[in-house]
Amino acid sequence: MKLLVTGGLGFIGSNFVRHTLAKSHKTRIVNLDIRTYAGNPENLKGMKGARRHQWIKGDIADPKVVDRAMKGVDAVVHFAAESHVDRSITDAGAFLRTNVLGTQVLLDAAKKHAVRRFVHVSTDEVYGSVATGASRENDRLLPNSPYAASKAASDLLVRSYFETHGMPVLVTRCSNNFGPYQFPEKALPVMITNWMDGEPFPLYGDGLNIRDWIHVEDHCRGIDLVLRKGKLGEIYNIGGTASLTNKQLVERVRRIMGVDASLVEHVTDRLGHDRRYAVNCSKIKRLGFKHSTTFDRALKATIEWYWDNQSWWRKLKGKTGYKSYYKKQYKGLAKR
Ligand code: NAD
Ligand code: TYD
Repeated sequence: MKLLVTGGLGFIGSNFVRHTLAKSHKTRIVNLDIRTYAGNPENLKGMKGARRHQWIKGDIADPKVVDRAMKGVDAVVHFAAESHVDRSITDAGAFLRTNVLGTQVLLDAAKKHAVRRFVHVSTDEVYGSVATGASRENDRLLPNSPYAASKAASDLLVRSYFETHGMPVLVTRCSNNFGPYQFPEKALPVMITNWMDGEPFPLYGDGLNIRDWIHVEDHCRGIDLVLRKGKLGEIYNIGGTASLTNKQLVERVRRIMGVDASLVEHVTDRLGHDRRYAVNCSKIKRLGFKHSTTFDRALKATIEWYWDNQSWWRKLKGKTGYKSYYKKQYKGLAKR
């Protein structure tokens, strides 16, 4: 089987490439990734089955590049995206271009090359904030951030290619991931790496926003299951095992790392900050999905990974681009 993975140099994409090459010895992977600030070839260093992997440096919104990459491909798993909510608040342009137009270019090429399955990797953020209960796959989409809106738009585009062209598409909507190789702009790696350096973690607002945490390896297993067994045209939620307020998350990490409470800095809230996400996962469970780890075990392993792989994240945090992003992102956020 020849798989086209888009965004395979990013956090979840690289974990998926590692997972797939180690698990199925007959799979070859073409990895189309333009290598934005979030794409890092080091994420794939030392992986098993590297000879069955080929990286094409290119843009998913470029029809010529995508047409070449799609040749002879059996299935597509589409991760490539601009993925950080805070960045979408400051500048939404790249989000629309990559997440919406990029998805359209991929769908057209997949149609032309008669690809057999196309998995579009999406997020629970498309449902918007849910005060109570848990979102189901056919619930209304009410995205609140430009990131979530761009993902919702791409989900709807994927749906339209199923309805209009009968394309063999599937959509997954996952909750907040954590684990190795997550870029230090998302909450957990910012927290862990700042604390390793004795720097404060900037906690937005009252810290009572709720997220549902899943280890990235379990997300990859869920995507693999949907790729193999999902029903065409269907959407599958993938949720985690720990629904926590950000304050509770901070406490869990603080206890494991032995960090003083003074290293939590309460700052101004994120604009449009969704209060709570929660997804109902009975549909993917009916396909046979089970979590392989507990939140506490996976959190401890993740903290250890960042401890053992300091050169990986120090290189990223040392870059001028990262430093200016961090300064710009947090300078306007006054202490509360
Ligand atoms: P990431 O930001 O770590 O990685 C994105 C990757 O896409 C990078 O390697 C980047 O170089 C590549 N990319 C960006 N624009 C591109 C373009 N125009 N052409 C080719 N490659 C491009 O993101 P992630 O956290 O790994 O998320 C991957 C996918 O999973 C996204 O679609 C995201 O919406 C979805 N998702 C993420 C989470 C999460 O918690 N991180 C949860 C649910 C769903
Ligand atoms: P994040 O990792 O950006 O994921 P998402 O916004 O996609 O859920 O943020 C997770 C939660 O942590 C979210 O409620 C925002 C909050 N947060 C902070 O409090 N401080 C931070 O520095 C960051 C990046 C996030």
